[in-house]
Amino acid sequence: MKKNLLYVIIAIAMAAVIFGLGILASSITERKAEKEFTYKPVVKIGENEPRNDVWGENFRREYETYLLTEDTTFRTKFNGNAMRDALEEDPRMVVLWAGYAFSKDYNQPRGHRHAVTDIRNTLRTGGPLTPDEGPMPATCWTCKSPDVPRMMEEKGITEFYIGKWAGKGQEIVNPIGCLDCHDPSTMNLRISRPALIEAFERQGKDITKSTLQDMRSLVCAQCHVEYYFDKTKVENAQYLTFPWDKGSTVEDMEKYYDEIEFSDWTHSLSRTPMLKAQHPDYEVHKLGIHGQRNVACADCHMPYISEGGQKYSSHHLVSPLKYIDKTCMVCHRESEETLRNNVYEHQEKILENKILLEDVLVRLHLEAKKAWDLGATETEMKDILSGIRRTQWRWDFSVASHGAAFHAPIEILRIMGNAINIGSETRVKLARILAKYGFNQELSYPDISTKAKAQKLIGLDMEKLNAEKQEFLKTIVPKWLVEAKERESKWKIIRY
Ligand code: HEC
Ligand code: HEC
Ligand code: HEC
Ligand code: HEC
Repeated sequence: MKKNLLYVIIAIAMAAVIFGLGILASSITERKAEKEFTYKPVVKIGENEPRNDVWGENFRREYETYLLTEDTTFRTKFNGNAMRDALEEDPRMVVLWAGYAFSKDYNQPRGHRHAVTDIRNTLRTGGPLTPDEGPMPATCWTCKSPDVPRMMEEKGITEFYIGKWAGKGQEIVNPIGCLDCHDPSTMNLRISRPALIEAFERQGKDITKSTLQDMRSLVCAQCHVEYYFDKTKVENAQYLTFPWDKGSTVEDMEKYYDEIEFSDWTHSLSRTPMLKAQHPDYEVHKLGIHGQRNVACADCHMPYISEGGQKYSSHHLVSPLKYIDKTCMVCHRESEETLRNNVYEHQEKILENKILLEDVLVRLHLEAKKAWDLGATETEMKDILSGIRRTQWRWDFSVASHGAAFHAPIEILRIMGNAINIGSETRVKLARILAKYGFNQELSYPDISTKAKAQKLIGLDMEKLNAEKQEFLKTIVPKWLVEAKERESKWKIIRY
């Protein structure tokens, strides 16, 4: 009897130990799982699902923060998500871009939710348009929408780059979103844009081998980079290409463009074959101290948020000054005010050089025009045009990515210093040519105190351009939307 009781006690004790070990083991695996990302799907997300609201059913927090990119009320000293007319704020740029679409219309960026609306609205894409004509190629859609990877999958990459912008408007309706940065089956970060994968390949690098921390910047480098359209690769296609084969500093990329004798347009006043910098945020960021310390774009623009014991990434991509306690202050101990002032101080100091440089450039374009008008020859002007091209490339590279003054202040000051020097030397040479043709005085600086005055100076008919655009928005865009709705209504949503 006694023996039996002992056996029972031992058996109970052993069961308790085994049970306890079991709990411990399962809690260890649970902790491990907590580190990885798990979720209970509500819907099945298709391989090429461009609709952000469908993804949003599975990932409410990410989707809700993503929707905040619609907001346009946050302003910082120089940026923020408010719609700002960059040409009105600084009409010199109209003169610098004479003969190029940017002189018609250029706004500071807003949040990702506006990307498709804004490219339709801008005067740069023109109007009225037919699918086969218009100023812009289809390639312009590439950084605007998750319909782009969908179409590239369905129709082919090259096929996507063929034809005109207005020929694909009915296909592209969903603003930048989940499919652009995530693999729907694993939710891992992924690169959806071929241009970035190809740029890595040409440098002998495999982008799929990147670390997670690198991916937290590389997803942005699909769009926030310098690029150009290669027209020599495939007939009728403008193939999106990153000019990184010689490196990605301002000089490396200039060398690349010079070697292939590339220019974006010919300046209508100075007749210079110009380069337009796009928005090399990624390249510039890598040259700054944060980039060198491997701080990622997401560390400042997509901070982690804790909510009910859960941590997730804010998908409200915006100026980091909006959530300074969750961005800068995760790493720095200074007060909000000090950190904000650090940013403003960098920006204000760089702005001083920006204005100096723009005044040099306005004068260069006008003085070169004067030289042509007086009869200067191609041979005489060759050196001058090269100087203008090099000066303006450096200016544009420094200002086109709106965060550059903070991302890499020392590099930007170096580039601007070089540009002011090249530009001033070019003006000295130009003064000699003007003197040779009998013009021996200072050319008066034009009144370009407003955008309208500057646009008049370079001969733009803004009334006509605006009327054409309104017509396009009233007649063509509604048709695109109807066609898109019809297409999407056929895609079934599978619920669990
Ligand atoms: C511009 C790129 C980008 C877009 C667009 C984007 N994400 Fe993310 N997403 C990220 C990055 C970066 C992370 C952080 C990854 C990490 O640190 O592991 C992330 C993380 C996540 C995670 C993992 C959990 C978390 O919050 O860290 C989920 C889920 C997610 N995103 C859902 C979405 C959904 C849903 C959408 C569309 C509404 C979306 N994402 C759009 C870049 C993007
Ligand atoms: C598919 C292309 C694409 C990707 C990927 C992308 N962006 Fe953007 N981003 C844009 C475009 C286009 C705009 C301008 C939208 C507009 O003004 O309508 C923009 C605007 C912004 C803005 C300005 C927002 C504001 O409120 O003014 C920030 C900040 C930004 N992006 C950061 C990022 C970061 C960080 C990443 C990576 C995590 C990223 N973007 C990934 C295309 C992209
Ligand atoms: C993920 C960590 C991290 C985040 C987030 C971060 N920093 Fe830094 N910051 C660093 C590191 C690392 C350095 C380099 C200092 C060093 O290594 O001693 C640095 C350097 C700086 C410097 C000195 C260099 C310079 O460029 O003047 C300033 C100022 C600065 N950070 C401000 C900010 C501000 C403002 C924000 C938010 C917009 C921010 N940082 C976000 C890590 C971070
Ligand atoms: C250390 C923090 C930090 C990192 C890392 C960082 N940024 Fe920024 N970024 C800023 C700050 C600060 C500003 C200026 C915001 C302002 O003026 O309101 C800015 C501005 C911008 C803007 C303009 C925003 C606007 O409102 O118009 C864009 C676009 C941008 N960054 C993209 C990127 C991309 C892409 C990366 C990675 C390649 C990156 N940033 C990395 C801090 C950072």
